Amino acid sequence: MASSGLVCETDAWKDLKAHVEDIKKTHLRELMSDTKRCRSMMVEFDGLLLDYSRQCATVDTFNKLNKLAEEAHLKDKINLMFSGERINITENRSVLHVALRAPRGSVINSDGKNVVPDVWQVLDKIKDFSDRVRSGAWVGATGKPLTNVIAIGIGGSFLGPLFVHTALQTGYLDAKDISPYPEAAELASGRKLHLTAFKPIYKPEDSQRVSGKTSRLSNTYFPFLPVISYFPFIAVFLCKSLAIVTAAACFLSHLFVCFYGGGLGVYAVGQFVNCLANVDPIDVARNITGLNPETTLAVVVSKTFTTAETMLNARTIREWISAALGPEAVAKHMVAVSTNLTLVEKFGIDPNNAFAFWDWVGGRYSVCSAVGVLPLSLQYGFAVVEKFLQGASSIDQHFHSAPFEKNLPVLLGLLSVWNVSFLGYPARAILPYSQALEKLAPHIQQACPDDPVSMESNGKGVSIDGVPLPYEAGEIDFGEPGTNGQHSFYQLIHQGRVIPCDFIGVVKSQQPVYLKETGNNPSNIEPRKLAYTGELVSNHDELMSNFFAQPDALAYGKTPEQLLKENVPSNLITHKTFSGNRPSLSLLLPSLNAYNIGQLLAIYEHRVAVEGFVWGINSFDQWGVELGKSLATQVRKQLHASRKNAEPIEGFNFSTATLLTRYLEHMHREQGRSKGGLHGFAKVVSINRTEKRSG
Ligand code: F6P
Repeated sequence: MASSGLVCETDAWKDLKAHVEDIKKTHLRELMSDTKRCRSMMVEFDGLLLDYSRQCATVDTFNKLNKLAEEAHLKDKINLMFSGERINITENRSVLHVALRAPRGSVINSDGKNVVPDVWQVLDKIKDFSDRVRSGAWVGATGKPLTNVIAIGIGGSFLGPLFVHTALQTGYLDAKDISPYPEAAELASGRKLHLTAFKPIYKPEDSQRVSGKTSRLSNTYFPFLPVISYFPFIAVFLCKSLAIVTAAACFLSHLFVCFYGGGLGVYAVGQFVNCLANVDPIDVARNITGLNPETTLAVVVSKTFTTAETMLNARTIREWISAALGPEAVAKHMVAVSTNLTLVEKFGIDPNNAFAFWDWVGGRYSVCSAVGVLPLSLQYGFAVVEKFLQGASSIDQHFHSAPFEKNLPVLLGLLSVWNVSFLGYPARAILPYSQALEKLAPHIQQACPDDPVSMESNGKGVSIDGVPLPYEAGEIDFGEPGTNGQHSFYQLIHQGRVIPCDFIGVVKSQQPVYLKETGNNPSNIEPRKLAYTGELVSNHDELMSNFFAQPDALAYGKTPEQLLKENVPSNLITHKTFSGNRPSLSLLLPSLNAYNIGQLLAIYEHRVAVEGFVWGINSFDQWGVELGKSLATQVRKQLHASRKNAEPIEGFNFSTATLLTRYLEHMHREQGRSKGGLHGFAKVVSINRTEKRSG
């Protein structure tokens, strides 16, 4: 039989297969005691520190993985990507998201044409437009500035921007401390960007304080907080002495608490979350409730401008604007991001207000195009978004040029291949110890069959040449910020299934401490005491204590012998035993500003590419999402026909026909009740779909 050219046929693959037995004999406890090995498994780049010493791997494993990379032609494939070759062969497209963040003046060709000037032309247009909207030079139909943005999009046209927005929205408590550029949250003052999937509990107007800041506790407006500042006044008043002086002091204190959140969850305005991705009408309702069309700008984000969900939502918002302000208002209140400018114009959006991108940008890799840059610039200003692009670009250059043993995305990608295809661990947990990164896992995972960076990219069953894969590829990504995840699924990862974990920590928190320190212990050696609470560490140190502890708990576990020494009752020994030997890696970021967020995004994007290159699959197409879409079209037609003309349900299997009948009958009963009319028109014709088709 002719060779299929699959990577599993290479000597390096076979060698790694044989190597698994050696590794399985060695516990991570032993591997971790080899300091030389651990030192060799730490890599630094541009402020980032990757520690992969807690992987079930030795230096020898890495030599073998490097050999695999060689035999899979990893270097050549990376070069082909950067040189604009059409490596997405099933769609005949180049894969050039790296060009979206390339510095002005650099050269990246697609079909012999340098695309970087086109990229910067759109970026300049975004800068100009977002400046005008933010400054109030661009106003709505009634002359009011547009302070609210709804970005309408789904999949890659939604989750990437949402991840970055969520990561930027809190900003730093002390802007002076984190120069060199003013922080995103401050720059968002007074603006609202609606991207995400739930509505705030507080009223939007509440966040429009003069100071541009509002206090929130766990996404909930906490109106009673400032009242706390009056407690001393009340006490003194009761004592009937020094009341006036104290009242003045308390009033100032009230102002401080109002404007600076009293140290509790300070958020700059413009960051309350909402959504318009799902075709579910609940999503639309949540978005427009409390919003004024006069001050709202809708950005329709769709690469194809044909996606059913996005277009229905866009038509709904267009109607909402037209109904309130007249059809001519659409020109002022709706703009678009797409590769399909013809359809944008047909929809009724002025082509001058359309922001282009290109076929060589995959939907899930599009956050650095106008897809993300436009809504994020409207919210934070272009300068912040430019920093984000620079962070991503720094990783691009590193990925393209660093030797594999120092190359962060390559190391991470090879480790994933090792864990999935050799050690047989199909899942990966993404565990950022930062609430600001709460949307990282959804962006990387995008767990529905709709557009995962990782799961859509590498969730494939055949090689790039169409040969069925005899080995496992792709991985199940999921995650939750620490420490929340610790109280939900960590039980499983400690004592149940083995799931390699990515721990992501940040040295300098966006919100470093809420409880002020009093200790004057410059040596920093002893735990520093905090004011009036007796806390041993700052809130961020508390969070990071978990970040540092969890990987060791997973790696070392706890033996029955240790438990016996602790006098654990014998009936609990097995329950309290932790097998350990559970792999993880730790990535430590210096801070979480726009630049670092760009770095993080690019690391994950390239890691996915490395995995796909080694597995020999096409990480840049997504045929797997098509079947469900086309079946939905058939159901849509049936619903229309049954509702309009009482046509019977036909062409579906028994199960679907029964469900459809129940759905339609119930609706009609409701309608009948309100109109006093008939119901029960749907007649089930139970035909097996495949039989009908083949017949
Ligand atoms: O269904 C998957 C997908 O095609 C993604 O690849 C894409 O990001 C998403 O749908 C939305 O597509 P569009 O940007 O064309 O509306």
